[in-house]
Amino acid sequence: MATRTSIRKAPRRTARTTLVLGLAGLLAAAGVTALSGTAQAASTLGAAAAEKGRYFGTAVAANHLGEAAYASTLNTEFNSVTPENEMKWDAVEPSRGSFTYGAADRIVDHAQSRGMKVRGHTLVWHSQLPSWVGSLGTADLRAAMNNHITQVMTHWKGKIHSWDVVNEAFQDGSSGARRSSPFQDKLGNGFIEEAFRTARAADPAAKLCYNDYNTDGVNAKSNAVYNMVRDFKARGVPIDCVGFQSHFNSALSVPSDYQANLQRFADLGVDVQITELDIEGSGTAQANSYSNVVKACLAVSRCTGITVWGITDKYSWRASGTPLLFDGNYNKKPAYTAVLTALGGSGSGGGGGTASCSVTYSKQEEWSDRFNGRVTVTAGSSAITSWTTTVTVTPPQKISATWNGTPTWDSSGNVMTMRPNGNGSLAAGASTSFGFTVMKNGNSAAPVLGSCTAS
Ligand code: XIL
Repeated sequence: MATRTSIRKAPRRTARTTLVLGLAGLLAAAGVTALSGTAQAASTLGAAAAEKGRYFGTAVAANHLGEAAYASTLNTEFNSVTPENEMKWDAVEPSRGSFTYGAADRIVDHAQSRGMKVRGHTLVWHSQLPSWVGSLGTADLRAAMNNHITQVMTHWKGKIHSWDVVNEAFQDGSSGARRSSPFQDKLGNGFIEEAFRTARAADPAAKLCYNDYNTDGVNAKSNAVYNMVRDFKARGVPIDCVGFQSHFNSALSVPSDYQANLQRFADLGVDVQITELDIEGSGTAQANSYSNVVKACLAVSRCTGITVWGITDKYSWRASGTPLLFDGNYNKKPAYTAVLTALGGSGSGGGGGTASCSVTYSKQEEWSDRFNGRVTVTAGSSAITSWTTTVTVTPPQKISATWNGTPTWDSSGNVMTMRPNGNGSLAAGASTSFGFTVMKNGNSAAPVLGSCTAS
């Protein structure tokens, strides 16, 4: 919840500041203002992806967060996390009506305190499902499914960027049929749409995704998912995104129509996300496959982010296939370099670059006498521990309130210097934002941002 602080300082104007602000204000009013403290090629996955308007995430296990190299690789390289197991039904509702959120909370807190996004995974799935669910009769199962969705989403309401509402509901192979599960077998095809409607009501701000594997290219299974999404969009069933797990190996390599498949889903009016990427192999072959996946996502404007299914090979669910970007000693593999390059970044900084940040402004609500502004602060290619930026308003405008930041003022009262509220840590490429109310006093000019400085 945003904390609101009222601030008032007497304005003092000079002709010179009015002139300068007038010009800059015009520029700002023409569009989004983006100012950066330093300009260098992004040298981490998260920062490089952020420059392309996307996130780069990883699956995280709570029990590894205490390992220094694990946490530092996470904090340096990624700006989104997916709990690998901690939000699954068996973890959060092991017995009916009894919810345990501790392990997942540790991941969410770790991410939030560093400005990383969180993907919620997963609400309704046939696997990692406690046996009590399968023993329920139809009416009880329906109530339990809806209660599970509502309770879990409410617990993290406002903190989850996208939820995998339903996971893996379709069969492999050529049938295009639904997979047998307690939900499918007792509630019928309608369980998926019911789950999405319940999810929308529980956290309207979260993007709601359908997530599956073996749907990465055009095939019978992805056709079945495609038809479902098309039907949902046509009938107004709430769905915002489709997740493509993208678990690849020698038998299941990156399909040649991967990009085309992402694009046809995007053309239905949903975002697409690569949600569990890992590619078994090593060396150049593995690197090339990773590069192809990243390029496909970047070529699809509605492909909003990529998540790899783990940080280091040693903790991968398929460890023997060494499918990830870092080896067991957290060394960057050729696949890492290929991903960073495909994202437009550069490895020269090695992740140890200088602290930097950039700021963008966007106008929010407006009334006849005032408007709210929001400034988003994004860390550059290295993790930062704090940031500072300025917001200058045009007299006789006055800033009457601020939130999510700690302001100080110059003697004129027109220039506000904003610092974090408490912890200012941001992972590379991660963002936070603060807001303020500008009293127009007859002038609607946009505020002007100074450059962002980070430490
Ligand atoms: C896997 C985890 O990585 C393992 O630790 C766990 O033992 C089994 O589940 N599809 C999914 C993921 O949606 O939740 C699965 O994660 C991998 C396949």
